[in-house]
Amino acid sequence: MNSPSRGAAVYEPGPVFLERGHGSHVWDADGNEYIDFMMSFGALIQGHAHPKLVEVVAKTMAEGSHFAAATSAEIEAAERFCPMVPTAEAVRFTNTGSEATMLALRLARAHTGRTKFLKFEGHYHGWYDPYLLNAHSHPAEELGPPESPVRIPDSEGIPASTFDDVVLAPWNDLPALERVMQEHGNQLAAVITEPIMANMGCIPPRDGYLERLRQLTQEHGVLLIFDEVVTGFRYSPGGCQEYYGVEPDLSTFGKALGAGFPVGAVGGSRSILERMRWGEHMVLHYGTFNGHRLTMKVIAANLDLLSGKGTYEKLHAIGDTAIAGLRDILRRRKIRAIVQGFGPMFQIYFTDRDAIHDYRDYCRYVDTKKYSRFVRLLLDRGIYMTPSNGLHWIISTAHTKQDVEALLRAADLACTELA
Ligand SMILES: Cc1ncc(COP(=O)(O)O)c(C=O)c1O
Repeated sequence: MNSPSRGAAVYEPGPVFLERGHGSHVWDADGNEYIDFMMSFGALIQGHAHPKLVEVVAKTMAEGSHFAAATSAEIEAAERFCPMVPTAEAVRFTNTGSEATMLALRLARAHTGRTKFLKFEGHYHGWYDPYLLNAHSHPAEELGPPESPVRIPDSEGIPASTFDDVVLAPWNDLPALERVMQEHGNQLAAVITEPIMANMGCIPPRDGYLERLRQLTQEHGVLLIFDEVVTGFRYSPGGCQEYYGVEPDLSTFGKALGAGFPVGAVGGSRSILERMRWGEHMVLHYGTFNGHRLTMKVIAANLDLLSGKGTYEKLHAIGDTAIAGLRDILRRRKIRAIVQGFGPMFQIYFTDRDAIHDYRDYCRYVDTKKYSRFVRLLLDRGIYMTPSNGLHWIISTAHTKQDVEALLRAADLACTELA
């Protein structure tokens, strides 16, 4: 496997090898059919092999896939992206979400002339060195007090000094945020946050949290970066910034933007993005595959499809039906679990709590092993999902009411076998 999350980290006794996908369904190497609720970790907002995207790819490929030259395809993609994302006066395309968050931090540092930044416990922003601090879950006893969290690197091979510039804080905790901004605010280039915490399952912000974060960053001259790699083009055409009505300075995208093609993007104000304009004091961002012609054509077609009437109403309605159905089954089967999230993205937590509000709740109160067992039972019943509790269930435009009914039937059976 080329990423641990596809293999030994979560699948036992070994991963399912997928060979083919169509709409909301996938087939494995043994010919088993599943309904896919993982959807390539959220990338496949249009499901598998959407006919319009197949057509666009075939046509573009026949004309020449990529020139690494200026093309009208990148303009077509940008002209659709910017009107959809409320704060994107301009956009720069990268190849992955990790590259986008990397670039956003470089831009923020150049713009503010400061080097430190704040990241939150449990937030994942890709595999760039300085972001790999407390992005994985750990036993609650190892986390230290919320006022001074124990700093746990997620990877070997990162110089300890890299983290000297990282301020770490608990998320969704207003008093902690006020305190940390009071202490460090004037030294920070940026605060980066997932607007809905999507890498410990699905944890929405508490009422007013993002709004106060916006105020505090503004008061201290700190750029606010929304990492919308997961949430972008999912909850609404303009992502969570539109859904919650909070305006970050920079935002990063990936996944659903490319509908299955590798892409990332940084959107923001022209004054910040123009720092990449060629010249003596510019911010450098190179890349042979930036603005890949095939991907840009897919993005333009994908965003046109997403802009169609009723897309987001349908995504929300199907997701909410699945959530309500799962809650009902868990209640009837007397299983202590909650379904958290809303609309197109949610997660199931086996827990005694009424809600999971942050990383610490997740590490302390969620029975992730039970969740893995539950998902393995679902895999045996034709539902494809990762057994990692840290990810989330995804609804694409290809999912139907029938898919949700099949999920609920499988979940009901799985509950009867769950010890
Ligand atoms: C919130 C968030 N940011 C950034 C990334 C990195 O994106 P990519 O895997 O495309 O590098 C991810 C990937 O899961 C993510 O969930």
